Amino acid sequence: MTETRTTAAHGGAIGMHGIKKWFGNFQAVDDVTLDIRSNEFFTLLGPSGCGKTTLLRMIAGFELPTEGQVLLDGVDISSLLPNQRPVNTVFQNYALFPHLTVAENIGFGLKMLGKPRSEIDSVVKDMLKLVHLEGRGGNPVTQLSGGQQQRVALARALAPRPKVLLLDEPLSALDLKLRKSMQMELKRLQTETGITFVFVTHDQEEALTMSDRIAVMSTGTVRQVGSPWDIYDRPAERFVADFIGETNFLEAEVVAVSGDRARVRLSSGAEIPATFPADVTPGGKVTVVIRPEHAQVGTPSPASVLRGIIREIVYLGTDTHFHIRLEDGTTFTVRQQNARSGSCGFSKDDAVGISLSDDVAQILRD
Ligand SMILES: Nc1ncnc2c1ncn2[C@@H]1O[C@H](COP(=O)(O)OP(=O)(O)OP(=O)(O)O)[C@@H](O)[C@H]1O
Ligand SMILES: [Mg+2]
Repeated sequence: MTETRTTAAHGGAIGMHGIKKWFGNFQAVDDVTLDIRSNEFFTLLGPSGCGKTTLLRMIAGFELPTEGQVLLDGVDISSLLPNQRPVNTVFQNYALFPHLTVAENIGFGLKMLGKPRSEIDSVVKDMLKLVHLEGRGGNPVTQLSGGQQQRVALARALAPRPKVLLLDEPLSALDLKLRKSMQMELKRLQTETGITFVFVTHDQEEALTMSDRIAVMSTGTVRQVGSPWDIYDRPAERFVADFIGETNFLEAEVVAVSGDRARVRLSSGAEIPATFPADVTPGGKVTVVIRPEHAQVGTPSPASVLRGIIREIVYLGTDTHFHIRLEDGTTFTVRQQNARSGSCGFSKDDAVGISLSDDVAQILRD
């Protein structure tokens, strides 16, 4: 790789401040403020219709905010046309030119910018290498597989060395295996080029795998911004906890508070430590979230913080899920890794105790 060709110019930090977007009388984005750092792999994650594409289109300049500012490296770019912004977009459907070769597709943007032939050839060569398509430049683009076409689309978007690359669900048309390898590929491209990537997906696993930071969105608002670990292990509210992975919600009462720690009493009477993101006071009723893989099933014992009856055992190869009816009638899921082959040792209708790993309970914001 020739560093000077494929490395972005410095910068690429995006500020979105107080962004609101109305389509007629429908509000698609409601007061979003986000600061995306230079050279970051940043993901907008949320269910269909929550406003991800709309936010991306406002960074690209295809849509204008009804209110608020879009900044690039601290400069307001709201009045710039899409082609005046050092930003490129990769779409889900690739949008390649079917009548052009791989090389012509990759060089297209540079040609439009009026770059000399020799420079285009040189950048295309670097790009083919970057996306592992050396020797394929002369092929008609239609002869490539889906994954290869997606890499051409990436190379084409990277060729003019944008400061920011916007990617709107670029992997959703690929099969699972290809998607997994393209996730690694994208992460590598982002690290090697140092370009700020803003990636859109509704797939939580994809977001956790690739991102430096994630913004979880719901109905036009950003609910939480953080590292994959923050989002998964320290969800601030029920929507985030529920959207990212499987979760148990338990009602509890705060017994004591000290620093960022609390002791909470579960419906079983057991008291456990819990962390919390917002103010809680002793006596307060709270919801506590515990991930299924942070709990263990065993025979009932003094170490059990919860007790119940196994309603269902689901064997998933790598691990086993136990769906347990607790004494208070709610259901709790435990996910245990199948470290050994053979039976898990429990059957449906067994009475079991549930113990927890240390420091796994998190109190949610109301
Ligand atoms: N041009 C438009 N005119 C009217 N409504 C629009 C327009 N573009 C988007 N919307 C609406 O704004 C909301 C957000 O749309 P957006 O495309 O940003 O969602 P999304 O999060 O990208 O969803 P998906 O995951 O399905 O792509 C939706 O309710 C959509 O119908
Ligand atoms: Mg979308």
